[in-house]
Amino acid sequence: MPTPRPTGAPRTALPRRYLLCRPTHFAVRYAINPWMHEDAQVDTELAARQWENLVRAYRDHGHTVETVEPAADLPDMVFAANSALVVDGRVFGSRFHAPQRRPESREYEIWFKAAGYDVYQPESCSEGEGDLVPAGRYLLAGTGFRTTRDAHAEVQEYFGVPVISLQLIDPYFYHLDTALFVLADGTHGGNGGNGEPGGPDPDPDPGPGPDPGPGPGPGPATIAYYPGAFSTGSREVLRRLFPDAVLATRDDALAFGLNSVSDGRHVFVAPQATGLIDQLTARGFVPVPVDLSEFHKAGGGIKCCTQEIR
Ligand code: ARG
Repeated sequence: MPTPRPTGAPRTALPRRYLLCRPTHFAVRYAINPWMHEDAQVDTELAARQWENLVRAYRDHGHTVETVEPAADLPDMVFAANSALVVDGRVFGSRFHAPQRRPESREYEIWFKAAGYDVYQPESCSEGEGDLVPAGRYLLAGTGFRTTRDAHAEVQEYFGVPVISLQLIDPYFYHLDTALFVLADGTHGGNGGNGEPGGPDPDPDPGPGPDPGPGPGPGPATIAYYPGAFSTGSREVLRRLFPDAVLATRDDALAFGLNSVSDGRHVFVAPQATGLIDQLTARGFVPVPVDLSEFHKAGGGIKCCTQEIR
């Protein structure tokens, strides 16, 4: 057990804009990942309450929540994160791997267009923020089960941000956002990737560490991940880029602990991920437990239900 660091200056939260889909039609009707069983019973009322708790938690912490109209024949549409990646108001849409989910892209496209955004339609299979995660100066991109390497090339071309392709190897962690999340994106002052909680970096010489790269732009991000979800090479890439990352256990990952949302200070996290919650607290973050256990039956958690509009 590592000794907790002193918490120092508090980390800074930035207000976010989230798009969610009410679970009116949420169910497990097909199985496209190992969490899903066609005979799974979903308690619809409990799911609705859990989802309302998530919305309330976001709003209580100063974030904006908008919702898209749920479609009756799309039980996974509640997993809004898969619909797109939005950075600087530019929307890179989705193309789903499973035929059952393909019509969701159109539903979200309608919402984005009504909200005043153009939507780029990827040519290759791409499941939005499920596999595409902005992390400081890089865009981390998962592949192996859903989003393809061709889509990684497409998303790099679209945003002009360096894409780091990461190979997922464990079917329980079929989307990157089930195995990794960003705690602080490095774009907003002293909460970046030096591993020290809060405040400007007191050390003027950063010494060896992640390459800050040329020119202006975001600094290194602080991330959390479960190494076992990645191929050996991808694990090494993560270790080099994010030497100060929070490393989660398999148990915490299986509890959907890495399917979390951070505003830079508060981390909306599954209460079952107890070890991770302790690690986050020791790093100066403020865990906000939100239980989405009904959604775990479909292989989703907090982040899956949340599309961030950057
Ligand atoms: N049942 C959905 C699927 O397998 C769950 C999606 C979870 N979303 C996520 N961002 N990981 O596609």
